[in-house]
Amino acid sequence: MIGSIGLHSFAIEFGFDRFICPSAPNPHCVLSQTAGSALATAKDPTDIVASKVKKLQSRSPSPDRVRASAPLTKLLKSYQIESRILTTAHMVSEVLTSFAFFTAVRRMRHIDFSLDGESLITPEAIAAHVVAPGTTWGEQEFQTARTALGLALGIALQQFEQGAEPRQIIHRIAGSLHELRMRYPASIWQQLIPIAQQHPVSRYFLEDPFTRWSFEKPRGYSGDAQLLDFIYGHSSVAEWIENASPLGKALYDYTKDASSSVAVRERRDLFTQHVDAIASSRGGDAEVLTIAAGHLREANQSVALKEGRIKRWVALDQDPLSVGSISRDFSGTCIEAVDGSVRGILGGRHDFGKFDFVYAAGLYDYLNDKVSIKLTQRCLNMLKPNGVFLFANFATDIMVDGYMETFMNWALLLRSETDMWRIINGSVGDLPIEGTVRFGENRNVVYGIIRKLS
Ligand SMILES: C[S@@+](CC[C@H](N)C(=O)[O-])C[C@H]1O[C@@H](n2cnc3c(N)ncnc32)[C@H](O)[C@@H]1O
Repeated sequence: MIGSIGLHSFAIEFGFDRFICPSAPNPHCVLSQTAGSALATAKDPTDIVASKVKKLQSRSPSPDRVRASAPLTKLLKSYQIESRILTTAHMVSEVLTSFAFFTAVRRMRHIDFSLDGESLITPEAIAAHVVAPGTTWGEQEFQTARTALGLALGIALQQFEQGAEPRQIIHRIAGSLHELRMRYPASIWQQLIPIAQQHPVSRYFLEDPFTRWSFEKPRGYSGDAQLLDFIYGHSSVAEWIENASPLGKALYDYTKDASSSVAVRERRDLFTQHVDAIASSRGGDAEVLTIAAGHLREANQSVALKEGRIKRWVALDQDPLSVGSISRDFSGTCIEAVDGSVRGILGGRHDFGKFDFVYAAGLYDYLNDKVSIKLTQRCLNMLKPNGVFLFANFATDIMVDGYMETFMNWALLLRSETDMWRIINGSVGDLPIEGTVRFGENRNVVYGIIRKLS
């Protein structure tokens, strides 16, 4: 037990008292393999721990409520027992080689939080939402779809092996996957997703750091703010891009400029423009609320913020890491970063007062209609007269949906213009409002805009 205790106190000293040492059939242990291989290959050990956590999460019984650290902790504890058979000398070397692991775990403490269960931000939760349990599908149709998928993936694999132009390969596969997704019922498409993910060609696509981040979900859920930083080309992801293989860089050149990425950058810029316009019209009294703020990158370009013409800008997110990033980046400004969730808003746990502008981007794509309507109602209640609520959603017109759902393991609830109106009409009741639904330039994102008239 000595070794175990030694390691435990080491962990406490570094603030990881819940992370002792991972389990492995051989007590020589994943820990040393993890840290050791991370050191040996000079890879970021966070990635390695992240993929371990991801594997554990995939075994989690409830898709709605993922408590990423719980199974890890259990596994770590089981290792603690197994570690009895380690010698003290062995443990000393374990501790030394494990430093990278602890550093990685320390950097990953953010996974120690619960998703609030309102947003479906695991692909499993989205799949359960889009395909009702018990849905059946025709075996023959499934076999035809599987053959078509196999053919498309096989061609891509061959092209990679023959050194074809990566842009062309990814463009072609994204088109084929989109067609398959459109052609077959959701119940069949959902069966195709794991087949694509397990196909040997996936390892090539995972060389793209953006695809890989999305697939591995280092923060424990889909669509985290750092993922969006790959789209924004923000310096926070420079290291991952630099360390990518030449193939990975070539693929990233394509994914960062895919139609969905272009639409997300436009979305960010539209929010900056809205904030600045509201600030100009309110003469220094503008109050803004951002829900699911991520890293609040739209604030970087806000002239009104720079010139101190915004009275208050509350930025709420469920991810403590993102909240920390906002606090750090915008300290000394009117921006208040709040660790909060949709559930907190729906439950009336946040009393923020009233705002001139409330908006959400990258959130409704994970909310079912019922939650979307409830949240919209809450947001309308938080508006001052003449205030505006704006929510964005990826649109059904998106062309890279198949690639996102397979190789990126990034599932979204896509919405049409009609879907957006259903949310607006379901939310406003008797409130005097002016509603608009409009698309971004390439129609990959659709916006619902509600102005409260009194
Ligand atoms: C795709 S990012 C969008 C970030 C930012 N709005 C942007 O457009 O760059 C989605 C964000 O929503 C947050 N989020 C997801 N579900 C949430 C919930 N139920 N409550 C609060 N935040 C949530 C995530 O933590 C993440 O930061």
